[in-house]
Amino acid sequence: MSKLKLLLTGSLAAIVAMFFLVSNINAREAERVSLNQVQGIPQNASVNSEWAKYYPRQYSSWQKTKDSDDLEDMVGKKPQLAVLWAGYAFSKDYNAPRGHYYAVQDLTNSLRTANPKDAETGPMPTSCWTCKSPDVVRLIEEDGELNYFTGKWARYGGEVINSIGCKDCHDPKTAQLAMGRPYMDRGLASAGMNTFADSTHQEKRSLVCAQCHSEYYFKATDNNGKTAMVVTFPWKNGLTAEGMEEYYDEINFADWTHSISKTPMLKAQHPGFEMHLTGIHGQKGVSCADCHMPYTQEGAVKYSDHQIRSPLETMDRSCMNCHRESEEKLRGIVKQKFDRKEYLMEIAMDNISKAHLETARAMELGASDDELKEVRTHIRHGQWRWDYSIASHGSFFHAPEETLRLLASANEEGQQARIKLVKILAKYGDAEFIAPDFSTKENAQKLAGLDVEKLIQEKLEFKRTLEQEWIKHAKARGLYDAENQKNIDDKSSFYR
Ligand code: HEC
Ligand code: HEC
Ligand code: HEC
Ligand code: HEC
Repeated sequence: MSKLKLLLTGSLAAIVAMFFLVSNINAREAERVSLNQVQGIPQNASVNSEWAKYYPRQYSSWQKTKDSDDLEDMVGKKPQLAVLWAGYAFSKDYNAPRGHYYAVQDLTNSLRTANPKDAETGPMPTSCWTCKSPDVVRLIEEDGELNYFTGKWARYGGEVINSIGCKDCHDPKTAQLAMGRPYMDRGLASAGMNTFADSTHQEKRSLVCAQCHSEYYFKATDNNGKTAMVVTFPWKNGLTAEGMEEYYDEINFADWTHSISKTPMLKAQHPGFEMHLTGIHGQKGVSCADCHMPYTQEGAVKYSDHQIRSPLETMDRSCMNCHRESEEKLRGIVKQKFDRKEYLMEIAMDNISKAHLETARAMELGASDDELKEVRTHIRHGQWRWDYSIASHGSFFHAPEETLRLLASANEEGQQARIKLVKILAKYGDAEFIAPDFSTKENAQKLAGLDVEKLIQEKLEFKRTLEQEWIKHAKARGLYDAENQKNIDDKSSFYR
C-alpha cells in the first residue's frame, strides 16, 4: 500500500471514529438532561408500579432488588446473639438484610413483631414501619409526623404495604432526590450539619440512604396525652460511637434491661451512614450511590442502576472507574477485611456473652446491684461498641479501621467486666464458675428464656387472620400493588 493510501485510510477511520464519538457524547448528554426532567407525574406515588411508565429503566432495575432473596438466619449462624440480646425482641429472630423489595414482608414475618390481634395490640409501635416503605412518607404527609409516630405497629398494617421504593428517595412532581422523613433534618441540625435541602448534590446521594441506614432510637414524646415514639438520631455529640454512647448515658437511656444480667442495655441499630463517613471512601467524598447505584449504559442511554445490592456484583461499574487493580485483586482485599472483622467479632461476642452469664451467677450467689454496678457499665459500653461496629454489615469494608478499633474496645470492656466478675465470684465462693454452653441456637434461646415454638405458632395464626385483613384493606384503599405483590417470596427463618 502506498504511503498516500495509508494516510487517507487512516484519516478516514479517524473521522468516522470521531463522528461516532461525538454523536455518542451528544446522545448521552441529551439523555442525561432528559433523565433529569419530569417525564410525567405518577399519581398514587407510594405505589411503585405507578412510576413504571415514566421511568421504565429505573423501575425495572429497582424491581430486580427482588433477586436478592437469600434468607440468612443470623441467630442460627451466630447463637451468641440470643444471649447478647436476651430480653430484647432481636433474640427471637434476626436475619441478614436482603433486597429492598422484601422490607415490608420481612418485618411482617419476623417473630419480633409477634401476633397483634387488632390495631390496638402490640408489642411494637408504629415507628417500626419507618424505614420500610414509601407509604410512611405518605402517612407522615397525611397524618402529620407526630400522629404517625403514635400508636401500635398494627395500626398501619393495611396502610404500609409497598416496599422501599421511588417515593422514599424522590419527589413525584420533579423526580429530584427528596427526603420525606423530617426526623432526619432534626438529626442533621442537632449535629450542626447542613439539612437535606442545604446539602450538595453529592451529599444527597448518600443522605437519601441515611434516612434509614443510620443509628436511631425512639424518643417518647407527648402527643396530646398520648405517647408518640419518635424516631430520633442521637447525633448531638457527634456521629461517632463514643459521642452517641455519651448522649445515651447523659439521658439515662436504655433500649431494654438484659434478662440475664439485668444490665440497662443499648441496641445499636445500623449506623451505616455514620460508619461510612469515618472510612476512606466517605472521607474522600464517595457517595453510597457511587458504589451501590452505578451508572449504567444501555445503548445511548445512561441511567442509575436501581438494583441496590452488593457492589461486588457490579465491580466493573462500581469500582473500576476509580481503581486500577484487577477485580480479582480488589475482591481479595475486601475478603481479607471481612475475615479480620469476623475474627475480632467472634472474640467480642464470646466475651460479652460470658460476662452476662457470669453476672447472673454472681446475682444468684447474692452479689448486690452496687457490687455489680461497674461490671454492668462495662457490659453496657462493650456491647454497644460491638453492636455499633457490625450492625450495619458493610462496615468491615466501609470503615475497616473504625470497625476493628471498636471491636478491640468492645473486647477491652468485656475483659474488664470479666476480671471484676472473677473477684466477685471468688468472694462468693465460685471462682471456678464456667458459663453454660450457648454454642447452638436452641441452647442460647433457652438461656434467653424463649419458647420459640410458641412464638412461631402465634405468628402463623397472625398470618392466617390479621395479615389477610390488612391485604383486603390495602386493596380497598388502592394501595395494593398487584404487579409487585405477585409471587413475592414469603420465606422466613422458621418456614420456607
Ligand atoms: C426507606 C428506608 C431505606 C432507604 C431509603 C434505603 N434503605 Fe437500604 N435497606 C433498608 C432495609 C429495611 C433493608 C433490609 C431489607 C430486608 O432485609 O428485608 C435494606 C437493605 C439494604 C441492602 C442489602 C441488600 C441486599 O441485597 O442484601 C443494601 C446494600 C442497602 N440497603 C443499601 C442502601 C443504599 C445504598 C441506599 C441509598 C441509595 C439505601 N439502602 C436506602 C432500608 C432502606
Ligand atoms: C434508595 C433511594 C432510591 C430509590 C428507592 C429510588 N431512587 Fe431513583 N435515584 C436515586 C439516586 C441516589 C439517584 C441518582 C440521582 C442523581 O445523582 O441525580 C436516582 C436517580 C433517578 C432518576 C434520574 C436519572 C438517573 O437514572 O440517574 C430517576 C428518573 C429515578 N431515579 C427514578 C426512580 C424510580 C422510578 C424509582 C422507583 C422505581 C426510584 N428512582 C427509586 C435514589 C433512589
Ligand atoms: C469515586 C471513586 C471510588 C470508587 C467508586 C471506589 N473507590 Fe475505592 N478508593 C477510592 C479512593 C480515593 C481511595 C483512597 C486511596 C487513594 O486515595 O488512593 C480508595 C481506597 C480503596 C481501598 C483501600 C483503602 C482501604 O480501605 O483499605 C480499597 C480496598 C478500595 N478502595 C476498594 C474499592 C472497591 C471494592 C470499590 C467498589 C465496590 C471501590 N473501592 C470504589 C476511590 C473510589
Ligand atoms: C466505595 C464503595 C462503597 C460505598 C461508598 C458504600 N458502600 Fe456499602 N458496601 C460496599 C461493599 C463492597 C460492601 C460489601 C458487600 C459484600 O460483602 O458483598 C457493602 C455493603 C453494604 C451493606 C451490607 C449489604 C449486605 O447485604 O450485607 C449495606 C447495607 C451498605 N453497604 C449500605 C451502604 C450505605 C448506606 C452507604 C453510604 C452511607 C454505602 N453502603 C457506601 C461498597 C460501598
